[in-house]
Amino acid sequence: MGGADAVQIDLGLVEELTKREVAALDEKHAKSLSYRETAKAHLPGGVSSSWQSWPPHPIYVDRGLGSHVWDIDGNEYVDYHNGYGVMVMGHAHPKIVEAVRTRVALGTHFAQPTEDALPVAEHLTERTGLPFWRFGNSGTEATLDAVRIMRATTGRDLIVKIEGTYHGHHDALMVSVFPAEADAGPRDNPNSVPQTPGLIPGTTDWTTTVPFNDLEAAQKVFAQRGDEIAGMIVEPVMTNAGLVLPDDGYLDGLKEVCHTHGAMFAFDEVKTGFTVAWGGAIEAFGVQPDLVAFAKALGAGLPCGAIGGTEDAMRKVISEDVHQVGTFNGNPLTMAAAKANLEEVLVRDAYRRLDEVNDILRRCEDVIDHYGLPASMKLLGAKGAIDWSRAPIHEYRDLWKIDDRIPQLAWLWQLNRGVFKSPGSKWESWTSSIVHTDEDVQRYVDNFEELASAIAS
Ligand SMILES: Cc1ncc(COP(=O)(O)O)c(C=O)c1O
Repeated sequence: MGGADAVQIDLGLVEELTKREVAALDEKHAKSLSYRETAKAHLPGGVSSSWQSWPPHPIYVDRGLGSHVWDIDGNEYVDYHNGYGVMVMGHAHPKIVEAVRTRVALGTHFAQPTEDALPVAEHLTERTGLPFWRFGNSGTEATLDAVRIMRATTGRDLIVKIEGTYHGHHDALMVSVFPAEADAGPRDNPNSVPQTPGLIPGTTDWTTTVPFNDLEAAQKVFAQRGDEIAGMIVEPVMTNAGLVLPDDGYLDGLKEVCHTHGAMFAFDEVKTGFTVAWGGAIEAFGVQPDLVAFAKALGAGLPCGAIGGTEDAMRKVISEDVHQVGTFNGNPLTMAAAKANLEEVLVRDAYRRLDEVNDILRRCEDVIDHYGLPASMKLLGAKGAIDWSRAPIHEYRDLWKIDDRIPQLAWLWQLNRGVFKSPGSKWESWTSSIVHTDEDVQRYVDNFEELASAIAS
């Protein structure tokens, strides 16, 4: 791929096409636009999370079935958004519906353990090799637990994270999530940039960042501040910067440097878990961390989170020194859905379908070549992304080189032609599902080709 020089995309044309696409979208979304105005009276922005709103307006979903969703205007889409990477099993999967229906009738909340939590933990152990598990309700809770356990276990305070990764909305990790070029500081000594106002003063003193895929940069931080570092949390594949795969040996190298300095090593597998492979990134890259945070796809669409670890890493939780708590932890409805999901739906064989889906998606690479687009594609299990750059994105700062207008047009283009992808343009990866049909996938490729022809001419 990528033999000939890439064509130069005319950004004036991109802006013109974008205007046309926004007008076409508005026309299809008369009810959504009016609903948004009503909703704004009580829901800031008309939404329940800031990330449900993306220009030109939020997509108000009515229902989903299998690989498809319908908005409140009645438009139908093939779903590659999949609830920000949750619904790799597809919407309203019959096995999940059945498990939830059965459990609902038996009571949905006691704040006491029910018998489904143990088989879920056993499945997680089988997939990761990590023996101990606790549950929560979101990815945020799971990575919060990881940070707290690392600090409590080591008696140190400093956390190392990767520049340009999101781990949820708690203070310790809301640092340098998507720092602007003007704020980020030098690459070899990045600033710790607060992602939002309202963090506890001094938060950024206790979280430092390094670029992804640069082992030397991590080694340098550990050499300088190793005795202060509680641990490092890393998304083994960056999924909120397109899809950035780790270089060979990088994750192993990070684990080694953490352990050499008496620090802990945690994976945030909130998005990679159950999507990139049956055993998540732990299986895909053969690296086992001390702690792992899961959420999203685990609960098959119910709110969930899990923190797992080695016996040593979970020592403080086992001894109850660290209170890993929550009224809804191990909620019976969530556990019933997770159990059915792991036992009957996201089984090993199901992942073969993702390979078939990716074989079709790879036709986008032919399109890139044919039209000489300044683009490249990455795929891993259910995850994929097109980087609007010939050189694949290798770390967060590479994204600054991409003009936002092109991926925004690409997103709108797909939306207007029946493909719903996560908004967030160049930041977001897509998620396909084990129930996507060949036709669903071809729709993506056809739309992409039509876009290529429109912008490369
Ligand atoms: C990598 C990663 N970690 C953690 C989270 C936080 O998960 P949640 O939104 O369930 O709190 C997200 C959310 O998108 C995420 O992408």
